Amino acid sequence: MKLVNRYQPNKDVQHITKTIDLDAFALSDLELLGIGGFSPLTGFLNKDDYETVVHSMRLASGEPWSVPITLPASNASSIHLGEEVRLVYNDVTYGVLTVESIYEPDKTVEAEQVYRTTEHAHPGVAKLYARPNVYIGGEIILTKKIERDEFAEDYLTPEETRQAFHEYGWKTVVGFQTRNPVHRAHEYIQKAALETIDGLFLNPLVGETKKGDIPANVRMESYKVLLERYYPQNRVHLSVFPAAMRYAGPREAIFHALVRRNYGCTHFIVGRDHAGVGDYYGTYDAQEIFKEFEEGELGITPLFFEHSFYCKACDNMASHKTCPHDRSEHVILSGTKVREMLSNQVLPPKEFSRKEVIEVLIKGETNKEVKS
Ligand code: ADX
Repeated sequence: MKLVNRYQPNKDVQHITKTIDLDAFALSDLELLGIGGFSPLTGFLNKDDYETVVHSMRLASGEPWSVPITLPASNASSIHLGEEVRLVYNDVTYGVLTVESIYEPDKTVEAEQVYRTTEHAHPGVAKLYARPNVYIGGEIILTKKIERDEFAEDYLTPEETRQAFHEYGWKTVVGFQTRNPVHRAHEYIQKAALETIDGLFLNPLVGETKKGDIPANVRMESYKVLLERYYPQNRVHLSVFPAAMRYAGPREAIFHALVRRNYGCTHFIVGRDHAGVGDYYGTYDAQEIFKEFEEGELGITPLFFEHSFYCKACDNMASHKTCPHDRSEHVILSGTKVREMLSNQVLPPKEFSRKEVIEVLIKGETNKEVKS
């Protein structure tokens, strides 16, 4: 996939008077559009692409794309076709868009198709409903990247990661999406992949997440301590994925794979309930959905993993594919349970998470309490 590059920091846009206010979600989408993370997209979806993406996971051109990248605008009635608008967040201009279409989506249909539910209780659907009801589509130019105090040193563009993988001499690279602290099951499937793939691209999502998820800075620290002590340094690359989390389960798994292809991965890990939330998706729905695409069409090969856990009888990490023992031997904890334990200063067992990671998480919890 040829990378789109729509970053033009020197473009003069101050003469453009009309503006659209971005929320944090749209700002991260704008940045990813600009740096080519969303290639082949060159802007926020116009109506034709939006319809085909929602209904058939494809752009109007037929290329695969599973999650609508949209720009909802609260001042849409003052915007006209063909004009340029400045894209502004907190009074700072980040880009410009040439208006190609202005349209009112049927959000119930979008929710049903993309999230497989119309329930407000689903955080992705709640977000969809809460945003303005008219979308503006059109090509963008990114004029300013987001200034980050945090993660600045762990931020690379897709062009830069491709270059880095090339320099490492990796012919095959497996991407790993995550929004949670690394636990033993993550480590197990990453290392299983590393047995046959040249390099691991650990790419934690650091954009907007739902309330209750562990903050990105704490997670980044947990990845670093783990990588330092338990991974061969020359086979792992860590940098952040600046996107917002959609919690769209299967659809988001396809999206995550396409974006990691753009970052230079040849393979992508999809485990249990990828990008899921609550009980909205079946454990392997996010794997099943890959069957809806022809082989080779996505430009990246998914690596599917069973639900993994520590088995006391095996005295090892395992999955139902490799372990013959009863469930009572398995150490399985939900994310909610772990957060509850941490907030009560109860340590999750070492079979679930390495002690170095737990220490970072406990410290994160303590800091949170001090701050509040
Ligand atoms: S996600 O929302 O980013 O998918 P998470 O960070 O928990 O959440 O998961 C990262 C990746 O690891 C996903 O591909 C997910 O399917 C996989 N995964 C998480 N836990 C397990 C597990 N116990 N067994 C197998 N795969 C898992």
